[in-house]
Amino acid sequence: SGYVTLDSGFKNTGATKSAITFLDGEKGILKYRGYSIEELAEKSTFLEVAYLLIYGSLPNQAQIDNFQHQISRHTLVHEDMKKFFDGFPSKSHPMGQLASLVCSLSAFYPESLDPHATAEEMDLTMIKLLGKMTTIVSWIYKKSLGHPVIYPQNKLDYVTNFLHMTFGQRTEDVEIDDVVVNAMNKLLILHADHEQNCSTSTVRIVGSSDCNLYASISAGISALWGPLHGGANQAVIEMLEKIKNDGGDVDKWVNKAKDKNDPFRLMGFGHRVYKNFDPRAKIIKKACDEILAKLGISDPVLDIAKKLEEVALNDPYFVDRKLYPNVDFYSGIIYRALGFPTEMFTVLFALGRLPGWIAQWKEMRENNDPIGRPRQIYIGENDRSYVEMSKR
Ligand code: CMC
Repeated sequence: SGYVTLDSGFKNTGATKSAITFLDGEKGILKYRGYSIEELAEKSTFLEVAYLLIYGSLPNQAQIDNFQHQISRHTLVHEDMKKFFDGFPSKSHPMGQLASLVCSLSAFYPESLDPHATAEEMDLTMIKLLGKMTTIVSWIYKKSLGHPVIYPQNKLDYVTNFLHMTFGQRTEDVEIDDVVVNAMNKLLILHADHEQNCSTSTVRIVGSSDCNLYASISAGISALWGPLHGGANQAVIEMLEKIKNDGGDVDKWVNKAKDKNDPFRLMGFGHRVYKNFDPRAKIIKKACDEILAKLGISDPVLDIAKKLEEVALNDPYFVDRKLYPNVDFYSGIIYRALGFPTEMFTVLFALGRLPGWIAQWKEMRENNDPIGRPRQIYIGENDRSYVEMSKR
């Protein structure tokens, strides 16, 4: 192992070549397949972006119609999957449920296990996952309320159908506000891919052993759950609530985050790659004001968030370390305004990231990337002799 270069946290190690997402952390640029995130968030839909990420170019009308049609044919999940919900404790975290349910798709669709499946068969496995994910996510939410689940309506577009299954009261009852549909599209687009982050690298490394798509993505969901990654969106709202209930003294909490003897960090702040600003955060902050205004909602934690941002961005600790609000800082305030409970936020991140994970998994397979297998620098004991229990 003398030739191994240590790079904990893979700060400087490129693990693959990729043609999906471009990211310039110094300049704050993010592009999917060459299209800027600003333009996509403004003009596109989540389904179109999913197509773009997975297949490489924007779809024409016939292609998007066909994509939507294929996905709609696979939104139903096996009825037996409903029984899983009877087994989960009622307060179990939605991310644990999501990872389990997505992994279990491999049991219901064993054809997904074949690493030598044709491109068409692989495509069907991906389409099934895109369709079933919306149903699984909305059912997790319904079950958390103790409410009956709502079945998909195939005449609805991808995002509207998801919102219908989540917020609809009865199967016939479809009245989802356009403001909500547009906000959801924007948020999902902004989360759709982010090159080789922790969860995507996990999906790739699990998939590199020829493991099936459902299990690979389930592993990515688990990686996303952590509060340093996607779980930050839940942690941000919990932090803002805590600050509010503590009297709203933002300076006190900023000082706490600076204290190296205190494990507390400003959640939703800082990024491994962005060192000037996170372009997603910029769009989300603006959208947050607009959406809350359109919905006629005023949320006191939004004021706290803005104050916190202002204080931190004027503090040398954060300036010197180039720590800025990231995508998770304002997203939760929008999710909450749309009616989602805090514990669902990271699940929504997963729903948004799904096409990116799928695209990266597909690219890895098509490029025949080798199995992922990092090395180490061994620092443990050498040459010890076994000592009998009576002599220890
Ligand atoms: N609050 C206070 N100090 C911080 C923060 C923060 N949020 N983030 C980084 N620092 C400090 C850190 O203590 C270190 O200081 P020093 O040089 O004195 O030791 C310095 O900044 C560099 O931080 P790091 O931990 O070495 O940076 P990293 O690239 O390993 O970690 C991060 C990146 C995102 C994990 C980290 O900034 C963090 O923990 N942020 C809070 C959690 C969060 O918002 N995560 C969401 C990330 S974006 C979306 C996503 O991935 O899902």
